[in-house]
Amino acid sequence: MRTQVHEIAAGIYRLSTFVPGIEAPAGFTFNQFLVLGDEPLLFHTGPRRMFPLVRDAVARVMAPGRLRWISFGHVEADECGSMNEWLALAPHAQVAHGQTACSVQLDDLADRAPRLLADGEVIDLGGGKRLRYLDTPHTPHAWDAAVLYEESTGTLLCGDLFTQLGNGPALVTGDIVGPAIAAEELFRYSSLNPAMGTTIRGLADLAPRTLALMHGPAYEGDGASALRALADDYDRRAGRPG
Ligand SMILES: [Fe+2]
Ligand SMILES: [Fe+2]
Repeated sequence: MRTQVHEIAAGIYRLSTFVPGIEAPAGFTFNQFLVLGDEPLLFHTGPRRMFPLVRDAVARVMAPGRLRWISFGHVEADECGSMNEWLALAPHAQVAHGQTACSVQLDDLADRAPRLLADGEVIDLGGGKRLRYLDTPHTPHAWDAAVLYEESTGTLLCGDLFTQLGNGPALVTGDIVGPAIAAEELFRYSSLNPAMGTTIRGLADLAPRTLALMHGPAYEGDGASALRALADDYDRRAGRPG
């Protein structure tokens, strides 16, 4: 198993590991995103057992010990299972997340104190990269759920939103909503809640040019339309008019 590395937007690298045994024959990807800058940030660490793969993939782009920030969608093994391995490897690294994740999970689980981010707060990485932290509670799942939006490239690091099966190209321009609906039908991974459509539509207002999926390809195109279509589908599932 080898982790593929592709630059999906200027200075943003997708590290993708394909696991063929999950829902074979389609398989499933686990993706992390490395955002370069004076203070580089890794969004998702991958599961703990994938740490050597992800570390070696980061090393193809920069020295892993330079990592400054670690963030992720929410506290689950595939999102942050190796955060403490990263904290041990990178002496200046710090986990950054919102109020819920810090107070419920990370103040205890992380080996160094996390940086607490307010909803809407920006981490300035230097080199022009600015990541805005946005709370998305219970969307698609987990009380502490959040996304990051990189302002200079218009890239939404959207975590488990739009999860799909398979091992497609790193960057696509075709439909990502249909495959996301199919994966929702299969996994039932979302915590359907009355605010879900509204939360996703709020992300559409950012008008992202790239959607960086944790499980699937990155999408380049009209991110707002894709997000609104996904929001409509979740409103339908939650029994609310779109
Ligand atoms: Fe998740
Ligand atoms: Fe995930």
